Amino acid sequence: MDTENPTICVIGSGYVGLTVGAVMADFGYTVVSVDSDEAKTAHLQRGTLPIFEPGLDELIQKNAAQGRLAFTTDIQGAIRRADIIFIAVGTPSTPEGRVDTGAVEAVARSIGQYVNGPKLVVIKSTVPTGTTERVTRAIAEELARRREGGGHATTEDNAPSAVPADCDVEVASCPEFLRESTALQDFLHPSRVVVGVNSPRAAEVIRRLYAKVNAPFFVTTPINAELIKYTSNAMLALKISFINEIASFCELVGADVQEVARGVALDHRIGPSYLLAGVGFGGSCFPKDTRALDWAAQDLGLEMPIVQAITEVNERQKRGVVHKLRGLLGTLAGTRVAVLGLSYKPNTDDIRDAPSLTVVRDLLAESASVVAYDPQAMRHFRQVFPQTTFTADPYEAVEEAGAAVLLTEWQEFRDLDMARVRRLMRRPVFLDGRNIFDPAAMRALGFQYASIGRV
Ligand SMILES: NC(=O)c1ccc[n+]([C@@H]2O[C@H](COP(=O)([O-])OP(=O)(O)OC[C@H]3O[C@@H](n4cnc5c(N)ncnc54)[C@H](O)[C@@H]3O)[C@@H](O)[C@H]2O)c1
Repeated sequence: MDTENPTICVIGSGYVGLTVGAVMADFGYTVVSVDSDEAKTAHLQRGTLPIFEPGLDELIQKNAAQGRLAFTTDIQGAIRRADIIFIAVGTPSTPEGRVDTGAVEAVARSIGQYVNGPKLVVIKSTVPTGTTERVTRAIAEELARRREGGGHATTEDNAPSAVPADCDVEVASCPEFLRESTALQDFLHPSRVVVGVNSPRAAEVIRRLYAKVNAPFFVTTPINAELIKYTSNAMLALKISFINEIASFCELVGADVQEVARGVALDHRIGPSYLLAGVGFGGSCFPKDTRALDWAAQDLGLEMPIVQAITEVNERQKRGVVHKLRGLLGTLAGTRVAVLGLSYKPNTDDIRDAPSLTVVRDLLAESASVVAYDPQAMRHFRQVFPQTTFTADPYEAVEEAGAAVLLTEWQEFRDLDMARVRRLMRRPVFLDGRNIFDPAAMRALGFQYASIGRV
């Protein structure tokens, strides 16, 4: 294995895999990004990015043009050429909320089938505790099968390949903490790099890869590293659910949750981050990872009421939107409701577990008609709710609306001419689900205005 100038293979060309691949290529390494999705890979090969992530497009184009970054569906070729293999495939929720590690397991088996020399496998995907060990075992089992001549077709000509004597594959955990919308910045300037390894050598190889990343390098065991990721996400989600619970209390006593949060955040033991009350958290990580931790505990016979409450409060918060609108309007049946913002947060097109999914589902269940606008996420949303009407801009969305609800704090919405919005609406009921407008100013404009945790 060349550890001085390794060739890298990143399996999974999603938000995480593309960021890892593009940055590693920009560091000067040769990177092959592999995905099983042929349409996605064809897009990437043509030079178009199938997701929206600020700055990523340019970085990919630059490194692809300079020959350091390529895209393929050929996992076999990519594994054989690589010294270091990152696993960055999805680990979605199963319908009941457990983690589906099927893709990680499939990749592990592929590595065992095609590996042709010493490699370091680095798991970037968020995976349940014990997965690094299971991946190590799965690779070893495939290798053993090959050694026994089990007939696994592992070369281009479909002949079972011999296993080289030095086929030493070590697996490490290196959970990723980047956030969509600031993925590149987060990857280059993380608060820490966590690596879970079984040998100092693996830690050293990863340390070298991350040499240009200026952050504390925390070396621990794989199982600790896996749990650090879940604990971090649950802790951040907990802060959001907690401030949302306080917001509900504020509404009953006439307090202002933003002022309360500001005062609380001055305590450096608590800090200001993730204390914005709103319509609940979404995205591809917090909801699924919190549910996964809860299930993992239950499977171990351990009750974790705090972890359970994170999800329960969040679900209540999301469902509370339509409840609040009903309170303002009386009935929603037949009302044209403008939904501003569909992505789970600004500057991403991701709608996975977004509050908008719950809100639009509930609006349709109440026989409201939904007219929606989002700067990036409408393409994805249309696939889930084709009965929604989508508009070219936010003003068109609010035209003749009987109510508007803002679910994502895109800058474009902060910059709206609210007097014009007021004039366009048939009935000026405005529910600001992200507290971006000033209540007094909105009321002065003639809105019947409501927000979260503020009266
Ligand atoms: N998105 C985030 O903000 C974020 C942050 C930190 C960690 N994570 C974790 O990183 C992992 C990836 O997340 P993501 O958001 O990039 O997911 P994603 O859905 O954007 O991308 C995953 C990619 O893996 C591909 N894939 C699935 N099975 C495959 C297989 N067998 N072989 C090759 N490719 C396969 C899919 O086609 C998809 O393109 C998840 O475990 C997630 O929890 C995500």
